[in-house]
Amino acid sequence: MAIIIDGKKIANDLCQELSHKIDILKKEHNIFPCLKVILVGSNPASQVYVRNKQKKAESIGISSETIVLPDDIPENELIKKIDELNKDPSVHGILVQLPLPNHINASRIINSVNVEKDVDGFHDENVGKLVKGEKNCLVPCTPKCSLYLIKSIEENLSGKNAVVIGRSNIVGKPMFHLLLQENCTVTILHSKSTNLAEYCSKADIVVAAVGKPNFVQAEWIKEGAIVIDVGINSVNIGGQNKLIGDVEFEGAKKKVKAITPVPGGVGPMTIAFLMMNTVTAACLQNEVDLSV
Ligand code: GUN
Repeated sequence: MAIIIDGKKIANDLCQELSHKIDILKKEHNIFPCLKVILVGSNPASQVYVRNKQKKAESIGISSETIVLPDDIPENELIKKIDELNKDPSVHGILVQLPLPNHINASRIINSVNVEKDVDGFHDENVGKLVKGEKNCLVPCTPKCSLYLIKSIEENLSGKNAVVIGRSNIVGKPMFHLLLQENCTVTILHSKSTNLAEYCSKADIVVAAVGKPNFVQAEWIKEGAIVIDVGINSVNIGGQNKLIGDVEFEGAKKKVKAITPVPGGVGPMTIAFLMMNTVTAACLQNEVDLSV
């Protein structure tokens, strides 16, 4: 029987542990972790994600505010707002929700966030440090939590074949580097790849981050693999909206060692790791070591 990885429970346990650390930061170091989320426009999916982040932050003692800015805000105005937050010592984490409207250069915005407040880990300097395997950087939450879930099933990944499906800057590319640092043999598959089934059939670990419902077919997957499904796809089934992942879950769970469900797998874990990154950022900025 496959292990259905309970991301919701693991995330709750991690957040509970984190809330104790936050208490210590407040009581012993007079540091009050604070996360500011910037939402440009009114993308409904982004609104849901941002609301969930803020709710979780508040529930564990991180002060959090969502700054909603208009769709047509000029790029320089947005940078001015980020700069204010960069200069405010009471703000430890800044997250600009993506995607941004087309007239805004997302890369310029991401790199205008102070590197020590970049809780998304998207700033070029944090990306560079991740690629080089340096430890003192903020790592993107979704790949970081995906690795955590893989290691909750199998601690030693050395020599394992890993396949990452999707090459986004947010998930696929950082996931590649994290698995490489664990001494996996890593292959990235993407929209121009051929023979996906063949690559997957040799993979001990599959991370699916394509954003297409049921894209990864159960028959592609090797017996006993660990499967992490990053996809969150809203589909209409029988007149009802349902969230499903990138992997054919029902078929896959009959043959894998472990798999994350959607919802309740990677989603809640990503938010928990954002909370951890916020506390890590607060510690970094104040030279406190709580080892989060
Ligand atoms: N949009 C989708 N995922 C993410 C994420 O991890 N961070 C930000 N800032 N925006 C996103």
